Amino acid sequence: MSAAEWVPDQADVAALRTAAAGCAGCELHGPATQTVFSAGNPRAPLMLVGEQPGDVEDREGIPFVGPAGRLLQEAVDEAGIERTRLYVTNAVKHFRFELRGRRRIHQTPQIRHLKACRPWLSAEIAAVAPDLIVCLGAIAAKTLLGNDFRLTQDRGRLIDAEVDGRPRRLIATAHPSAVLRTPAGTERDEAYAALVADLRTAAAALE
Ligand code: URA
Ligand code: SF4
Repeated sequence: MSAAEWVPDQADVAALRTAAAGCAGCELHGPATQTVFSAGNPRAPLMLVGEQPGDVEDREGIPFVGPAGRLLQEAVDEAGIERTRLYVTNAVKHFRFELRGRRRIHQTPQIRHLKACRPWLSAEIAAVAPDLIVCLGAIAAKTLLGNDFRLTQDRGRLIDAEVDGRPRRLIATAHPSAVLRTPAGTERDEAYAALVADLRTAAAALE
């Protein structure tokens, strides 16, 4: 199970997006509406990697346009990062869900989905060559930094790691959906402030 045979060699983001529309590298393409590839500047210094598209993203074909995306955009603005400096993508490009009645309930992708979809992310990193990669949540962090990565221990810290055999700079932070799931009030305010603080660290590392 792998996207590898769909991924063109040495392709730019536009060519990758076109090819990804036809990916059948794992079973997730079946029930989902479409491949949700990426958004933003293909020459961005900062790459944000999320988990997988959600319900709204699946329908619209654009990452981070639902509730988590709105929170992320607010946090990005508050951290003083211009949107033109961002390339936004996901570890897995199809929405994984379970049907409950007519509702589609998000299901976390499994390691095998991360592995199957990983060739797309590798090709994106090679094409965009960002100065810094921000992993939004544990799933993105694990796909890029290994399954042993612990977000609770190492979030918000600049990490030098080898990704696909090349040295890269990364930082892992909370997923915006995790902030949304935090009970409203002080706790959520703190979770949101911590996300903004990590994005500020990322922005500062670019200068
Ligand atoms: N959550 C993600 O991780 N990615 C999206 O695109 C939307 C929600
Ligand atoms: Fe291909 Fe990734 Fe979609 Fe699986 S989730 S079909 S590997 S694009």
